[in-house]
Amino acid sequence: MTRHLLRDDDLTPAEQSAVLDLAARMKADRFGYRPLAGPRSVAVLFDKQSLRTRFSFDVGIAELGGHPLVVDTQVTHFGRGETLADAGRVLSRYVAAIVLRTHGDDRIAEVAEAATVPVVNALTDGFHPCQLLADLLTVREHCGGTAGRTLAYVGDAANNLAHSYLLAGATAGMHVRVAGPEGFAPDPAVLARAAEIAQSTGGSVRALTDPVAAVRDADVVATDTWTSMGQEADGLDRITPFLPYQVNKELLGHAAPDAIVLHCLPAHRGEEITDEVLDGPQSAVFDQAENRLHAQKALLTFLLEETTS
Ligand code: CP
Ligand code: NVA
Repeated sequence: MTRHLLRDDDLTPAEQSAVLDLAARMKADRFGYRPLAGPRSVAVLFDKQSLRTRFSFDVGIAELGGHPLVVDTQVTHFGRGETLADAGRVLSRYVAAIVLRTHGDDRIAEVAEAATVPVVNALTDGFHPCQLLADLLTVREHCGGTAGRTLAYVGDAANNLAHSYLLAGATAGMHVRVAGPEGFAPDPAVLARAAEIAQSTGGSVRALTDPVAAVRDADVVATDTWTSMGQEADGLDRITPFLPYQVNKELLGHAAPDAIVLHCLPAHRGEEITDEVLDGPQSAVFDQAENRLHAQKALLTFLLEETTS
């Protein structure tokens, strides 16, 4: 069976925990793991812009002893008619795994259906599961664990990060609250799936509109851009309704006194988060960014080990 990570709930709670354990070991012994020695190659493909994902996969694959092939898809045949399924089939003949950042989740699903090697979602319109593995590793490091901790995500509660916080946070046994303005609520199907997962892990999920209620006594306060890639010209006001959701000192004051702040970056400083908070003592965002590297190395290792022909 070929294992993929297309959504956060593609990992069971036990598997997610195992990947995070491995990520912590890999972080402690950064150059000690070489499962891609050969070198085996990994294709890392981008339909959208990136800094962290691009560099962390490139560096991580090299550190695992492999050969990263990082390509912007505009230079491939993706945009001029070659089907994603054919690309998935062809790439499977060359590489050990395919990492893809793209638009609709249907696009990555098409690649995964055709591929015979693991396919990893490096961000779609719907989800950002690699980011969540890094975030959960950061929560473990700063909060001593994930189970029973409360995570509040405020901002665009309809976007990929909100959906991934719901699914991955529930998988990790967290109490996840997401809050956004009217019209920016999570996909009900994702919320229902997260609630189902939370029942089995002792976590919980809630979708709110009140940012203060979401943040109250939280251990982790997370946010993300109000305008995701591809939404720049969607005609919606992505500033005014979001202003009460800005993570500033006042909003953070409602969280637990030792709460940490997460932001996947890039940040729009002065919009969804203030400089004072992003650069302040409660910010864990640069640990979070570093943890992309360790988490993704562990994820690739896990998926390759679990994939049997
Ligand atoms: N957080 C994140 O995915 O960053 P990039 O868009 O720079 O990859
Ligand atoms: N929600 C953002 C995340 C960027 C890493 C986007 O999709 O653009």
